[in-house]
Amino acid sequence: MRSVIDILDLTKEEIAELISVAEDIIQNPDNYREKCKHKKLATLFFEPSTRTRLSFEAAMYELGGNVLSISDGESSSASKGESVHDTIKVVNCYADVIAMRHPKEGAALVATMASDIPVINAGDGGHNHPTQTLADLLTIHREKGTLDNLTVGFCGDLKFGRTVHSLIHALTRYENIKVVLISPEELKLPDYMLEDMAAHGLEYVETTSLEEYMGELDVLYMTRVQKERFFNEQDYIRLKDSYILSPEKLMPAKSDMIILHPLPRVNEITVAVDEDPRACYFKQVLNAKFMRMALILKVLEEATK
Ligand code: NCD
Repeated sequence: MRSVIDILDLTKEEIAELISVAEDIIQNPDNYREKCKHKKLATLFFEPSTRTRLSFEAAMYELGGNVLSISDGESSSASKGESVHDTIKVVNCYADVIAMRHPKEGAALVATMASDIPVINAGDGGHNHPTQTLADLLTIHREKGTLDNLTVGFCGDLKFGRTVHSLIHALTRYENIKVVLISPEELKLPDYMLEDMAAHGLEYVETTSLEEYMGELDVLYMTRVQKERFFNEQDYIRLKDSYILSPEKLMPAKSDMIILHPLPRVNEITVAVDEDPRACYFKQVLNAKFMRMALILKVLEEATK
């Protein structure tokens, strides 16, 4: 059964194909309005979400399908102690495809083991978030015209930020990518990720300064400090405003640099930056829906083969 737990579950060629399907959906939405007629997507969200759940649901509706939803773990039998395994077995009786978000790393993998229908990981703890990466890749591709030869800065919570981990994994596949890792000491990218980049020959530097490499970046990926993953509130309070991107901070940046953020934003980008033509984070939200449409189509097609 075709599930997507990690962005690397998709080959580079499959990602290129998803990008071209998403582009076609953007150009010819009417051709897709009935593609998933009589199909059901179950969105199982055991962690808060606005964009990811709604965009999966909007994606399925735009394909003519239907949606079953758990939007809050507390209102499901998980709160009575039901395991992920059992919940997935039950949902297999109702739906054709599952999108699941869970606070525990590895929960999506456990779900695939119990499932006969495709499972799409919509975020598992601080681990992976492959469909956000698909949205990021489409946005970079649309704005820069390529996924190669880019210097990409990641700023903020690189330790717990699953969107960062997934996008870096994806970038290991492309040519001549340089990565600039900007974070406080306490929120550095985990060692296993650094080792992975080194193993793939991805060039990277680490810095605590947002200013240091600003002029060299083609993409600046800002992130929120992941409050829910901290054990200690004091640490969160100390670190939460480590980086605040403002129009002044952008002065040395290239005129065609793009600014991404998976959202939600807290304080890390001032509202004044939204007016800057380089700010692409709301375009990213829309692109996410098109990539999720392309992905739902793909996994359902493969499931019925
Ligand atoms: C991200 C997530 O949930 O990991 N949000 C999203 O899906 N767009 C980022 C975050 O919550 O900071």
